[in-house]
Amino acid sequence: MIKIHLVAATGGDTTLEVKPAGSLMQAAVARDIEGIAADCGGMLTCATCHVYVREPFASRLPPPQAEELAMLEYTASPRRPNSRLSCQIALAEALDGLTVDLPPSQY
Ligand code: FES
Repeated sequence: MIKIHLVAATGGDTTLEVKPAGSLMQAAVARDIEGIAADCGGMLTCATCHVYVREPFASRLPPPQAEELAMLEYTASPRRPNSRLSCQIALAEALDGLTVDLPPSQY
């Protein structure tokens, strides 16, 4: 199991203990985390799974592929250098402690 931390825009911090499998989006949706909508279910067509990944994890993630970069143009909240789509973040042992900030809005 690994721990991931999701910090709401209002400051609340939720820690999930999850298997290092699937995506960050799937783990968040399974726990009904407010702030991750994921309308397309991970098909890279909605950008409502937007998160800001904190260091050192942002640098450890594989760089976004062209499709993710294209969808990041459509985030409701401002895009930042550490913006990622959580459906494209594959959970792995190396991401134990992963901390992401949730944007104020996904719409
Ligand atoms: S869930 Fe739709 S782009 Fe990630």
